[in-house]
Amino acid sequence: MPKGGVEDAEGAIHWFVTALSHQPVLLSDVLASLAPVAGQTYLDCTAGLGGHAAAIAAILGPRGRVILMDLDASNLASAAARVRALPDAPLVETIHASFAEAPHRLAALGARADMVLADLGFASNQVDDAARGLSFMRDGPLDMRMNSTARLTAAELVATFSEPQLTSAIRQFGEDRHAPRIARAIIAARRLAPIERTTQLAEIIRAAVPRAPADTIDPATRTFQALRIVVNDEIGNLDALLDTLSDAARAARGPRPMFLSPSARVGIIAFHSLEDRPVKQAFLTLISAGLATPIGEQPQTATPDEAHTNPRARSAKLRAIALT
Ligand SMILES: C[S@@+](CC[C@H](N)C(=O)[O-])C[C@H]1O[C@@H](n2cnc3c(N)ncnc32)[C@H](O)[C@@H]1O
Repeated sequence: MPKGGVEDAEGAIHWFVTALSHQPVLLSDVLASLAPVAGQTYLDCTAGLGGHAAAIAAILGPRGRVILMDLDASNLASAAARVRALPDAPLVETIHASFAEAPHRLAALGARADMVLADLGFASNQVDDAARGLSFMRDGPLDMRMNSTARLTAAELVATFSEPQLTSAIRQFGEDRHAPRIARAIIAARRLAPIERTTQLAEIIRAAVPRAPADTIDPATRTFQALRIVVNDEIGNLDALLDTLSDAARAARGPRPMFLSPSARVGIIAFHSLEDRPVKQAFLTLISAGLATPIGEQPQTATPDEAHTNPRARSAKLRAIALT
């Protein structure tokens, strides 16, 4: 039971069910790569439901420090509750912001991380919640925001983007060759009625895209991926994180170190090539500049057992480096 996290029995049951059913991906690879030691400081850029954070916090112990970041205030609170509920919990601090803000937020706390993890994308509880509007299989409002205080929802995007803007977003972030056709269909449909529901948009896409009998992927999949990436500026945030990690790696041994300790270990878990490509490139640049060494295989992926029991792990790729 989290200390101070839930207020009634229903809340407690929900917390337990969510916490117990949530399996953090590549957990043993993350632990082996970040190699936490009692008393160290851990920055979790994507706290989620606190699965990775709790496992690492258990090793850090009461002299350790865990800094949790998340754009989703409710996940951040769940993760903090889960870590604080551990026996001999470390100090837990929370930051409700994008991980792109890590450097100045950690500077404000006077902290330098020995380990950093970013487990990108959405958490299972966000995807499963129809009210978040992420799934074309469940009817819900076309929202898609990780941060419910952010301005742009997917419904606003679909209502306001021009045809070229929609085409380019669906092509770039959904990698869908039918992007022009889908954009045209969205523009035609929104002239008749506002597009406000997930299933409504999915039907518009399905009707616009020719489907071969052998197609196993729903035609809406790629457009939904594109919209959530744009709504949450997922690639912009990742690029900003990679830039700050590179700057911090360069500064780590200098007179003005930033938010990483000199031999910090950094892991990033990506779920598709739009995320993995920039991570791979940024890490290779640091390695070839002699500022970091690779940890383990590049990338580390799920064992057949984990892929079987945790479907989310099937596409997960962990890349990890240690600053030198
Ligand atoms: C895959 S989940 C993390 C799961 C977590 N590792 C665990 O074990 O429970 C990703 C989380 O990162 C958050 N997130 C995604 N992008 C973010 C960003 N740019 N800044 C902060 N949090 C972000 C999401 O809201 C979500 O809660």
